[in-house]
Amino acid sequence: MSVENPDGTSSELVFFVNGKKVLEKHAEPETTLLQYLRQKLGLPGTKLGCGEGGCGACTVMVSRYDREAQTVRHFSVNACLAPVCSMHGMAVTTVEGIGSVKHGLHPVQERLAASHGSQCGFCTPGIIMSMYTLLRNNPQPSIATMEKAFEGNLCRCTGYRPILDGFRTFTKEYCQMGENCCRNKNNNQKQEEGTASRLVNGVDYVPLDPSQDPIFPPELRNTEQYDRDYLVYRGERVTWYRPHTLAELLDLKSQFPDAKLVIGNTEIGIEMKFKKMKYPVLINPSHVPELVKVEHTEAGIRFGGSVTLSRIDEELKLALEKYPDQQTRVFTAVIEMLRWFAGYQIRNVAAVAGNIITASPISDLNPLFLACGAMLQVHSKERGLREVQMNEKFFLGYRRTAVNQDEIVLNITLPFTAKTKYFAGYKQAYRREDDIATVNAGMLVEFEDNSNVIKELSLAYGGMAITTVMPTRTLTEVVGRHWDDRLVDDVCRLLTEEMPLAAGSPGGMVEYRRSLTLSFFFKFYLTVQQQLQTMHIPTSKVPSYFQSATTLFHKDPSRSSQIFQEVAPGQLQQDPVGRPLGHFSAAKQVAGEAIYIDDIPKMHNELYIGFVMSNKAYANIISVDPSAALAMPGVVDYICHKDVPGHNSWGAAVQDDEEIFASKQVLTQGQIIGAILAETQAQAQRAADSVKVEYEELEPVITIKEAIKAGSYHRPPNSISCGDVEAGFQQADHVLEGESHMGGQEHFYLEDHATLAVPRGEDGEMEMFVATQNPSETQHVAAEALDIPANRIVVRVKRLGGGFGGKETRSIVFSTPCAIAANKLGRPVRVMLDRDEDMVMSGGRHPFLARYKVGFMDSGKIVALEVNLYSNAGMSLDLSSAVMDRALFHSDNAYKIPNMKVTGYVCKTNTPSNTAFRGFGGPQGMMMVEQWISDLAGTLGMSPTKIRELNLYQEGDRTHFGQELSPCFIQKCFDECVKQSDFLRRKTEVDIFNSENRWKKRGITVIPTKFGIAYTALHLNQAGSLVHIYQDGSVLLTHGGVEMGQGLHTKMIQVASRALGIPASKIHISETGTNTVPNTSATAASASSDLNGMAVMNACKTLLERLEPVMRDNPKGTWEEWVKAAYFRRIGLSTTGFYKTPGIGFDFESGKGKPFNYFSYGAACSEVEIDCLTGDHVVLRTDIVFDVGLSLNPAIDIGQIEGAFTQGYGLMMMEQVKMSPKGFMFTRGPGNYKIPGFGDIPVEFNVTLLKGSVNEKAVYSSKAIGEPPLFLSSSVFFAAKEAISAARADAGLHGNFRLDSPATPERIRMACEDQFTQRFPKPEEGTYTPWFVDL
Ligand SMILES: Cc1cc2nc3c(=O)[nH]c(=O)nc-3n(C[C@H](O)[C@H](O)[C@H](O)COP(=O)(O)OP(=O)(O)OC[C@H]3O[C@@H](n4cnc5c(N)ncnc54)[C@H](O)[C@@H]3O)c2cc1C
Ligand code: FES
Ligand code: FES
Repeated sequence: MSVENPDGTSSELVFFVNGKKVLEKHAEPETTLLQYLRQKLGLPGTKLGCGEGGCGACTVMVSRYDREAQTVRHFSVNACLAPVCSMHGMAVTTVEGIGSVKHGLHPVQERLAASHGSQCGFCTPGIIMSMYTLLRNNPQPSIATMEKAFEGNLCRCTGYRPILDGFRTFTKEYCQMGENCCRNKNNNQKQEEGTASRLVNGVDYVPLDPSQDPIFPPELRNTEQYDRDYLVYRGERVTWYRPHTLAELLDLKSQFPDAKLVIGNTEIGIEMKFKKMKYPVLINPSHVPELVKVEHTEAGIRFGGSVTLSRIDEELKLALEKYPDQQTRVFTAVIEMLRWFAGYQIRNVAAVAGNIITASPISDLNPLFLACGAMLQVHSKERGLREVQMNEKFFLGYRRTAVNQDEIVLNITLPFTAKTKYFAGYKQAYRREDDIATVNAGMLVEFEDNSNVIKELSLAYGGMAITTVMPTRTLTEVVGRHWDDRLVDDVCRLLTEEMPLAAGSPGGMVEYRRSLTLSFFFKFYLTVQQQLQTMHIPTSKVPSYFQSATTLFHKDPSRSSQIFQEVAPGQLQQDPVGRPLGHFSAAKQVAGEAIYIDDIPKMHNELYIGFVMSNKAYANIISVDPSAALAMPGVVDYICHKDVPGHNSWGAAVQDDEEIFASKQVLTQGQIIGAILAETQAQAQRAADSVKVEYEELEPVITIKEAIKAGSYHRPPNSISCGDVEAGFQQADHVLEGESHMGGQEHFYLEDHATLAVPRGEDGEMEMFVATQNPSETQHVAAEALDIPANRIVVRVKRLGGGFGGKETRSIVFSTPCAIAANKLGRPVRVMLDRDEDMVMSGGRHPFLARYKVGFMDSGKIVALEVNLYSNAGMSLDLSSAVMDRALFHSDNAYKIPNMKVTGYVCKTNTPSNTAFRGFGGPQGMMMVEQWISDLAGTLGMSPTKIRELNLYQEGDRTHFGQELSPCFIQKCFDECVKQSDFLRRKTEVDIFNSENRWKKRGITVIPTKFGIAYTALHLNQAGSLVHIYQDGSVLLTHGGVEMGQGLHTKMIQVASRALGIPASKIHISETGTNTVPNTSATAASASSDLNGMAVMNACKTLLERLEPVMRDNPKGTWEEWVKAAYFRRIGLSTTGFYKTPGIGFDFESGKGKPFNYFSYGAACSEVEIDCLTGDHVVLRTDIVFDVGLSLNPAIDIGQIEGAFTQGYGLMMMEQVKMSPKGFMFTRGPGNYKIPGFGDIPVEFNVTLLKGSVNEKAVYSSKAIGEPPLFLSSSVFFAAKEAISAARADAGLHGNFRLDSPATPERIRMACEDQFTQRFPKPEEGTYTPWFVDL
């Protein structure tokens, strides 16, 4: 029971975590539940992925007793936003509370691990908790309900399919016969003899037994006191009040009129953390009865201001059952809008008044509330109670409403609709689920009785101005008009006039946003017309050809299949090679027990480093003044370039490429100038923000085009050529020239950059725990900076929460300052970047521009190609040379081009240094190929798939860099893919669909790929291993590669298991360290399992040779006996292994050599449906056939294919890095940078591993897999492009058109030109300053 203060309030925070009572006497209102769990309670299972409610890594279950309903309610919550103070009287369950490796996993954990649904594991605890919460509320959900439970969770590794597969086993549709049952299988895939489709054996699952779940703490159920407490928590900067009665609330608001009311904290939390707003008084009205009440009145349903969005959704759904349809048209639209409003975790805590009063111009609910004229009751002590209608006068200005500062929103009434009123809501965003709107709208029309004559039209738009707006002139002018086609024209004209948006307006996408206002109205017009018909009101009929404009988005539950080659008959049972072994760390990951850098407990004397970074893109540093920061609480020191004992510069590929601390000049925003060392992260970050830097600004170069104009390059161009290009053009029937741009991509690994540098005190020794793909380079740069030999520094990496290339070199930017600080102060120093810091500072995938000229014959045969590729490398060279080289090597994709010249320019710009990213330039090179193929097909009026097939490489062909393709499986993958996908039949169906629908179109296409395997920098093609056999027979394996979710350690254990002839269970990998295997290459280029696998195999061979005499003497002995005997015979049981790839190397000077060890091949067929009016799309089906040789582990390889495809899908369709023309990064977190979510994967997703491919060039005939499949996602892009072509044809537009990647909803919509888009022509480049630029 909480203790009362003399004034009757309580300042004790009491809640339960995993069944244990927590009593906090000094609750700090600024502390989040996540910080409390991780730092105070030592529960690191719950992860920090973004800190802004956008990734779900921090999901926990919160339970409370609902006294009215006399039941316990469980809901998922983002612990990163929930203030710990809001937990009073609640029970929190974290991933650690439901199961553990030691005491047994919970079925949710077990099934996710078994289904291969955890790769790097960083997202996993959050996903587990979303599923667990769902099952606590609904032990046997439908598939559709289950799939929706993850709207608020992101995973960057898996591609989601295995997670959904694992959790499908809990659904009511799942037959307990497991995969033996036809119901659980996807029957579309044809399976050859000798292949298997069982990555998981579902029959053996431990059943879910809800009676085994932890009970709700009886104390919370038995006493009302925690609900009644009047709480006052006084923190360092903020005081938190939780009144219990309305009178107390009004008193407080009167006393502190500027105080913020906090319910979900989903706005205030963001404002305080990211916008650095200060709110000294927070009032939490979550327990004031009037504010949590739901009442049915004559006018409608009245919701208290603190009622959460989930509860509103629930109540409205009940109302749909209770009231006739025509009365609930507003409710239906609100339910539909809530479907796309954030994710469950946000909706479970966010309240309706929070949305209204925040008054965001892109609020999803306000347009609906305005359009239906929702009524508010507002209250204040001074003004009393009054009613305010939400109408065109409600929003007074940016984030200002008609509710006064001292008033609170008591409740809102959502009205019933009269029979003659029709209502709808619309929203378009980058991603359907959990995204803020680009434009949204609420629309109401009322007719005169039994007619289609308008009595009232009410339209409200979000995303079109600084407030939600109503075009009042339009609305007045149409009263009395008939609901007919002429009205559409007039409304469009009026809306165009009344809702202008200047070119370059904040948010950009001006023409698109304006088009959407009309598209939405057109949809509304058709929908209402249909409804009038069903009500038998005389009106013209909606042609069937137009009806697809009115359907709401619907997606069937996802389906999938995975087909792979079975192991050879007779392969020993204990030999795991070729079998779908689970990820080595899966159990720990699902239990939240896997340790990442920031999970390492705080060390004695540890400091946190906060970076002082440039906020200018290009400037001279005039002065830096840290004095104010140094005076702040907890601050210990400020360091800068003057504190570097050795070199203050480093380079991934060339010496002195960039400075560790900028000394005189900054070359990009986010560049590190100095750093503050403080006792806590909050203190360090606040102080770093207070360091004053004076700049002299210089004119930055931001885009590729600007760099070309300024001649700003990092290196002279490189070229590769073959044949005679000029002669080729002469011979060609057609020569076509074009240009295409491809945007960059943010890595968005779920674990941000992190380092813990620990000085060891003796001889300058230092231990560095770093989230890096590149331990050796980390060690060397730190040693050079500290001016000590490399042998004093040990870099240790247990695992990464994703890397994707982003931690290949850029991790060094953050680890080195930590080493410098730790060295200077003699104290451990830690950093884990916040998501926004990471996104601003660490660079990403290179944007590319291609200018091409292609010659081809009438038949579609390509005869000549000349391409200039330009990449945006950013402020330093980093790995950009090699990235460009790979793009050049892949500028043929999978096609024989007899005469070809391709040249690469690496542009130097004032943007963060771009770096390695899965595919490493390959996807950019290949994308440009497919762009001109698409143009070529358009020119000839042929199917692009035909052109592709016609030009495919054949066995023995040579590439443009002269490497022979043998064996070459391109044609085989292509043919298999055409067959598996049933392409020809479905293409006909697509054509029929397109002929029957004007506003939805489909496209289907097949894309092949070929990917060269090897580092293009020759010296990196080496690897080492170290294998110890202990006396008990257990084996400790170490190799040079880093585990980042890709399953490398699992594969290496499989290799060692076969090589030593022992079960995998006897082999352990602890970590990667520079003290065990030195001089390692970065884990990259997909080559790690090839290189390290060979090194492991070589070490194992050596050990087996040594054991051979012992085995010979005791042929029937066991492994343990042989090892023991060997020990007593003094045989060395430890050895290293080494491997270098033979026979490779390419010389750009001579244009000769063999850059790659071998090639991986694949093909994908995707079918996409687009909404021509909004630019929305859905991937209906994807079939992939991929050549992985003899797969070492089909579960891991298929996981890599699906993960790469999904990441590539983000690159091609969704992820848009946005930067201002002056170099300010707008995309700083999941709120405004969208990676694919659960709902974006193909509705049907089939993967087949090509049968019968063997590869002599890599360990046990396997092939590399990490990067090669990524490009197959372009099949979605080009299927969408074909769909757009069909839409354009309907509008009378034939021939080629430009579609750059990513094909965002904006680009799709604007390419589907029609009567609406034509009203908004794009202004000439140079006549205005765009909001963001194509980098
Ligand atoms: C990840 C994420 C996704 C989101 N997605 C969406 C989305 O899809 N669509 C969308 O529209 N919004 C979205 N939002 C914004 C936000 O969730 C909503 O605006 C939410 O409704 C705010 O409610 P809250 O309870 O969390 O507000 P809080 O942050 O607790 O408060 C917000 C404001 O409301 C005021 N306030 C609260 N209650 C009252 C009251 N009774 N009387 C007067 N003032 C009051 C507070 O003083 C404060 O100024 C998202 C936010 C996040 C973090
Ligand atoms: S860390 Fe909380 S949602 Fe991302
Ligand atoms: S496994 Fe999901 S982010 Fe890595």
